[in-house]
Amino acid sequence: MDYKEQFETIIAQQLARIEDMKAGADFIDYKSLDKIIIGIIGGDGIGPAITKHAHKVLASLLADEVKKGKVEFRIIDGLTIENRSAVQKAIPDDVLEEIKQCHVLLKGPTTTPRAGDKWGNVESANVAMRKALDLFANVRPVRIPEKGIDWTFFRENTECLYALGSQGVDINDDLAIDFRVITNPGTERIARLAFEHARKNGKNRVTIVTKANIVKKTDGKFLNICKEVAKDYPEIEVDDWYIDIMTAKLVDEKRRNQFQVMILPNLYGDILTDEAAEFQGGVGTAGSANIGKRYAMFEAVHGSAPRMVEEGRDKYADPSSVIRAGAMLLSHIGYQQQADKLYAALDACTVTEKKLIITGREDGATGDEFADYILSKID
Ligand code: IPM
Ligand code: MG
Repeated sequence: MDYKEQFETIIAQQLARIEDMKAGADFIDYKSLDKIIIGIIGGDGIGPAITKHAHKVLASLLADEVKKGKVEFRIIDGLTIENRSAVQKAIPDDVLEEIKQCHVLLKGPTTTPRAGDKWGNVESANVAMRKALDLFANVRPVRIPEKGIDWTFFRENTECLYALGSQGVDINDDLAIDFRVITNPGTERIARLAFEHARKNGKNRVTIVTKANIVKKTDGKFLNICKEVAKDYPEIEVDDWYIDIMTAKLVDEKRRNQFQVMILPNLYGDILTDEAAEFQGGVGTAGSANIGKRYAMFEAVHGSAPRMVEEGRDKYADPSSVIRAGAMLLSHIGYQQQADKLYAALDACTVTEKKLIITGREDGATGDEFADYILSKID
């Protein structure tokens, strides 16, 4: 296909996506379901080892609901890099079918192939799942109470440079072009979710982060739409920052406490949330919610650490981030009491009491011991 045709195809796809978004239904109401199906996806590397522990903790917290038939867990074990590479698809069709039978998912990390490695040029499973299930909001909280930090990032999850990240074009040997996509409905829905979150949680400031002074069309649109949505929330103060100075302000101890809720296009959100998680103790401590109207997926922010598995150390991998993702899942489907218990246990086991230390090696606790420690803190 020549590049002009390729460009036309891309535009047609994106215009169709906009129509789908406009026609889209409202958020699913978990209370109206007879049964909530929770899919557990191990993923790659240390994923199956740590996800197993998170499953055990959730199963214990929801034991009564499972008995009553209100909740069902389903293990989905086909989302491995070996399977994806064999069919050269980011999510094999049969696995996607299984995933779509669930309402919410808890997912371990999946390996993202790099150019030139043995897996071939398969798109990231994370990115593919966000698109396939239209998980448009990546919600990433970072809290460090002793430093007065309580941030919630609303990272747009389906657009920006990620929308067509695997569909750039080589015009000729010298010129490569990638595409950045920002749409009105795509921006409006993430902005509304962020402002609703602020309103419900008594936050009085929302910060919009772009580079609209330079990237005038797409970031300009993102900023304008967020400001339009802000008009429906007059009680909330709104400010906007450019991504470069925002990364600096997160390290500014005098200023950073002023931030509460942040809205960002996909790539800036990817970068800024890693920086933010680092203050909290690293990406291994953070959980991440990928929310859509029909589906939601909760995952650890870190990678699959294949070297740990090669060295036989996966049983020492830290499951706290995927367990934290599990707490977010409980809260999202309406089991707030169970979520609060789990958050409290996580705080005790990783901050205040910290009787077990996980080092990722033999000198530290195993994930199994850690999961039991968490369970011992839940009555
Ligand atoms: C994240 C990760 C992913 C991303 C990768 C694994 C594709 O960095 O969830 O932040 O870039 O979004
Ligand atoms: Mg990232």
